[in-house]
Amino acid sequence: MSRLVVVSNRVAPIHEGEATAGGLAAGVMDALRQSGGLWFGWSGRTLPQSVVPPDSLTPGSPPAVACSGPVTLYTTDLTQRDYDEYYKGFSNSTLWPTMHYQISLARFEHQDYLGYQRVNRHFAVSLAALLKEDDVIWVHDYHLMLLATALREIGVRNRIGFFLHVPFPASSVFSTIPVHAELGRGLATFDLIGFQTEGDQRAFSNYMREELQAETCPEGHLQLGHRVVRTGVYPIGVEADPLRAEAIRGRDDPAICDYKGRLDQRALIMSVERLDYSKGLRQRFSAFERFLVQCPEWRRQVEYLQIAPPSRSDVEAYQTIRRELEGEAGRINGRFAELDWTPLRYLNRSFPRDQLMPLYALAAVGLVTPLRDGMNLVAKEYVAAQDPEDPGVLILSQFAGAARELDGAVRVNPHDEAGMAYAMKIALQMPVAEKRDRHASMMRSLRTNSLDAWRDRFLFDLRLAEAGLSAAA
Ligand code: UDP
Ligand code: G6P
Repeated sequence: MSRLVVVSNRVAPIHEGEATAGGLAAGVMDALRQSGGLWFGWSGRTLPQSVVPPDSLTPGSPPAVACSGPVTLYTTDLTQRDYDEYYKGFSNSTLWPTMHYQISLARFEHQDYLGYQRVNRHFAVSLAALLKEDDVIWVHDYHLMLLATALREIGVRNRIGFFLHVPFPASSVFSTIPVHAELGRGLATFDLIGFQTEGDQRAFSNYMREELQAETCPEGHLQLGHRVVRTGVYPIGVEADPLRAEAIRGRDDPAICDYKGRLDQRALIMSVERLDYSKGLRQRFSAFERFLVQCPEWRRQVEYLQIAPPSRSDVEAYQTIRRELEGEAGRINGRFAELDWTPLRYLNRSFPRDQLMPLYALAAVGLVTPLRDGMNLVAKEYVAAQDPEDPGVLILSQFAGAARELDGAVRVNPHDEAGMAYAMKIALQMPVAEKRDRHASMMRSLRTNSLDAWRDRFLFDLRLAEAGLSAAA
């Protein structure tokens, strides 16, 4: 079997027990632990610009190597300028907001796009030096849409697949990016493009037809000039049994026992996510406030725990949402708290998984209400961590990719604050028989769309796809 080479901007932390930085790193690490392979990405470090010539393709030193079980991690540094233009700029100030339908937050600077192209080329050059002839390359996420183009330009002939963890927006939204056509053609250079949901796949096909004049082939593929563009839907999953085992193991953790004692029989409503404007935190805080107003009988009986580790803190839109949430959390607690009760516990720190799972299991309600999300692994982890005999209730945004699969969740529109407040009440009052039925149905879907299935189905299709040796038309 050929070796698997994974490429992403962010790689997982190497040491056990460290909190992961988002769904991509968590999912890819779990998937790679089974199959082994090489993982190439950014080290998370930036070098001062002075150590490299301005347009150099490589920051100077070869990638650093580390091993985590069967996975060999190769990481490369970015210069301060790469970081500013490629990561903070084009990836996270243009692409991220646009892919999540927040075009009023999107900023475009041509200089940032040049940095994005440069880092994609730099990744290609560094990676090419590590490749063997029959390696299969699997590229992840929006930071690296131009990587196949850059690899083909330097003569790499391996099979190259791409998986988009975030949503692919409507054609009219994606085309607001001034360089959208280059990105679309860049994606078309991959041998297979994977999406989280059918909606994302459809949006991409529509975009390719409307903006790049691609045509649909009889087998359902797209034809762009002489090139056949293959796409597929591969919803990322979780490993349900190990997560439940972690939830059970963690019950005896002193910090968890202590927190359970402090809850003192109160029902726990819990949310976890990076502090990101796409996650719907502001709307959710307001919905919780409405819930306390409309259901006074639940005051003192409930605690809402919001874990929100800061993310991309030097991007302005993230600083703004952080300030707003701090203000709102203080205001809501100021309005409702009693000497012996704080309704909202708002924590700006990350938790390692071995603590998150037992916390999920303690929570009567998992509240997951992003405005848009490619998948949302927290929703799936919450379900997996529950005790099947006495499970909690998942409240889930209809705009999370996970909503396509998790039919046992109480579905909400995150823009409807009254609807979310009502869903909290319904979830807290739900009879245990109904909770069990809903949970069992979601567990069936977690087992069908497992993490192994995600990896195996994508790689099976990629290995079948003809290597795109006849460069894009
Ligand atoms: N996560 C974590 N510790 C935290 C917060 C989040 O380990 O303090 C993990 C969480 O368990 C999940 C991932 O980060 O595996 C978040 O993935 P998701 O798809 O929900 O959102 P993303 O951050 O990728 O947008
Ligand atoms: C999401 C993205 C990932 C990203 C992660 C954390 O999951 O899809 O590509 O790695 O967020 O964000 P960061 O900017 O810290 O890598």
